[in-house]
Amino acid sequence: MSLRPLFPQTRLRRLRYSKVVRNMVAETSLSADDLIMPLFVCPGEKVKNPIKSMPGNDQLSVDLLVEKCKDLYASGVKSVLLFGIPESKDEDGTVATHEHGIVQKATRAIKEVLPEMYIIADICNCEYTTHGHCGTIIDGDVDNDSTLVTLSAQAVSLAEAGVDMVAPSDMMDGRIGHMRAALDENCFEKIPIMAYSAKYASGFYGPFRDAADSAPQFGDRSTYQMDPRNSDEAMREVEADIAEGADIVMVKPALSYLDVIYRCKHEFNMPVAAYNVSGEFSMVKAAEERDWIDGQRVMMEIMTSIKRAGADIIITYHAQEVAEILNKR
Ligand code: PBG
Repeated sequence: MSLRPLFPQTRLRRLRYSKVVRNMVAETSLSADDLIMPLFVCPGEKVKNPIKSMPGNDQLSVDLLVEKCKDLYASGVKSVLLFGIPESKDEDGTVATHEHGIVQKATRAIKEVLPEMYIIADICNCEYTTHGHCGTIIDGDVDNDSTLVTLSAQAVSLAEAGVDMVAPSDMMDGRIGHMRAALDENCFEKIPIMAYSAKYASGFYGPFRDAADSAPQFGDRSTYQMDPRNSDEAMREVEADIAEGADIVMVKPALSYLDVIYRCKHEFNMPVAAYNVSGEFSMVKAAEERDWIDGQRVMMEIMTSIKRAGADIIITYHAQEVAEILNKR
């Protein structure tokens, strides 16, 4: 009779004893090529306003933004997502369509010294309207169809300034088709659209609204952003955006919506981006500051989970830190 009669049939630990074999069988990998860093550009010169709720992130004037881009590029982050804090705002956000608007200026300045940096412009009205909503208000709510006009004009103006991609984050119906037509009519048929397709009405955007000064002055965004209870509806949003011409579809936020990322990747043959939003970033930083977690370790685990769920691209305020860790590996 054997002394050890109860051998496990399966020993999954066999492939865990050596780091070499662990790396060999790893199913998910992270690369700096997958990362996009969001940046906030503001008026002035030599301005660096730290964003309190997002340690390490600042509102930067164009000159310092260019320096930041050089630094990011050197770390291996080759793409940035630009948000503007304009000098003045108006009722419908048309300030965002001006040739000398803040993001237009920033784009030209970056392209002048660092043409290889891939610039993505977030397209939305909330940073540019006096009321902080993502579109034109008619009868107390954001009017869908008139908002399409200002959004498309914003996209065309930024394409003229030299952005490489546009990323509409407003959640109006029909914006992708409208914007695709506007870009094409203006000979920007080569500019891809990364659609914020499944964008939820989320509490995780809190710190961003301080960063971009874009909090709605009345009500909330639940008449246009998605209800966190739904995921079939997210698939319908994604489907509609693809039909209208989206090149990349996005799920936002990322962490509480990994199931939506998974479904999106498996139900459509499309590149999927996930936005690891401000609140997700700030929670890690806050807990790290208190020594409650190992911030770096948690950050890498979060990045890996987002990729494991099915995202090809991660938009994250951690981009540079992650790239620097990957460089050392
Ligand atoms: C603009 C926009 C928002 C974010 C990206 N684009 C804010 C919002 O919808 O209220 C949030 C990003 C973040 O929290 O990091 N509509």
